[in-house]
Amino acid sequence: MATRIHVDIDRARIHELTEREATKLDERTQGSREFYARAQKSLVGGVASSYQSRDPWPIYLSHGKGAHVWDVDGNEYLDFHNGFGSMVQGHAHDAISKTVTDRIGLGTHFAAPTEDAIIVGEELARRFRLPKWRYVNSGSEATMDAIRIARAATGRDTIVKIFGSYHGHHDYVMVSIGVEYDKIGDRFDLESLPYGLGIPQAVADMTIAVPFNDAEAMERRIERLIEEGRPPACVIMEPAMMNLGVVLPEPGYLEAVREITLKHGIMLIFDEVKTGLCIAAGGAVERFGVTPDLVTLAKALGGGLPSGAIGGTSEAFELVEAGKVVQVGTYNGNPLSMAAARANLLEVMTPEAYAHLDALNEHLLMGCQMVIEKYSFPGYSVGVGSKGCVTFSPQKITDYTSFKANQDAELCALAWLYNMNRGIFMTPGREEEWTLSITHTFEDCNRFVAAFEELADDLTA
Ligand SMILES: Cc1ncc(COP(=O)(O)O)c(C=O)c1O
Repeated sequence: MATRIHVDIDRARIHELTEREATKLDERTQGSREFYARAQKSLVGGVASSYQSRDPWPIYLSHGKGAHVWDVDGNEYLDFHNGFGSMVQGHAHDAISKTVTDRIGLGTHFAAPTEDAIIVGEELARRFRLPKWRYVNSGSEATMDAIRIARAATGRDTIVKIFGSYHGHHDYVMVSIGVEYDKIGDRFDLESLPYGLGIPQAVADMTIAVPFNDAEAMERRIERLIEEGRPPACVIMEPAMMNLGVVLPEPGYLEAVREITLKHGIMLIFDEVKTGLCIAAGGAVERFGVTPDLVTLAKALGGGLPSGAIGGTSEAFELVEAGKVVQVGTYNGNPLSMAAARANLLEVMTPEAYAHLDALNEHLLMGCQMVIEKYSFPGYSVGVGSKGCVTFSPQKITDYTSFKANQDAELCALAWLYNMNRGIFMTPGREEEWTLSITHTFEDCNRFVAAFEELADDLTA
């Protein structure tokens, strides 16, 4: 990214526009306010997951079709959130709806294997260049089981993750995420900090965080762990970080990580819960050409039904196959989820679908970048496959430290309000990116760019 001159955004103007847009959104979502008042009586915080919370109230949705969703007030939006990237197929896709409807009539759960599980496994093996697969029901389950498999295979307890990365809500990985800038510390000796209460420090201490895009820091920390007598079982990482907006791997970084992990007998787990099936047919494995020992999938796999998968080499799965690692779950390979995944992989997410996503995303990224340049806006657009964002930082973000040092949280919050008031449903939270669906059009992307241009214009006028 070339360094450019950019305008300084007046903070008072951000506050003034935030107030105006927040009032406007409140006025348009009075039905959601009423739902919230009712929901608070039975649901904790009025929501099913804390990630759905929002102040002063969440926007409750009623339905979706294709690239569109509607809230309970009847407001229509173009969906760029797509269920945290689960709905890359678009909502209520005909092929998936038909397959699931047909499957319902044949029985929805047996806790016994079905043919669809085999078909899905065969297709995933082809896409991700990993021969063996198991199923789970979410991304958290996938990363939890993958770590257990790596620990068993190596006979080691310590695990290495990337500082600031999210891999689900189980204790092993709820470590060193969402940390304030002044608490990050020395990049060669980052702290293991539990994320939220209820996580034992003893568990957190087994998880060591290293910075993204820094192979030297990773290797130095691994060598120290070996010296201390606690060599790591695995490195678990997103090959492209998807919770600081989008942070792409620098050229050569993933190859270096592969080399380091092989050298030290460490299993490499690519957590592709967000990237897998969304940035290429074979996720980051295909896109960046580096094959790990284990891959975790969820989100977009089930076309909107809860599902997850772990893929791996035959060696990685040896102890599971031998019955020594217990990888289980009542709903694993649920027939409904597997039927949806089959239709999704074989009929919906085709090579043409990926070509369309690439073309759309390029158009959207370019449109946003043109606005940035026209208004000398402090930021840049970045993305891959169906994923992208405008990063509100004049400096390039390469890891958690540069993200915390530079990203403009107030601007992110304002951009979200601008989007919502202009019919663009975006993932709340400053760390999030858009996910396009195959049902989006170039015109839909132009609407996103137009909303962004209005923001840039209002802020720089
Ligand atoms: C990279 C990554 N891994 C794992 C998870 C956890 O997935 P789930 O919420 O399905 O448990 C997420 C969720 O956002 C994620 O982004």
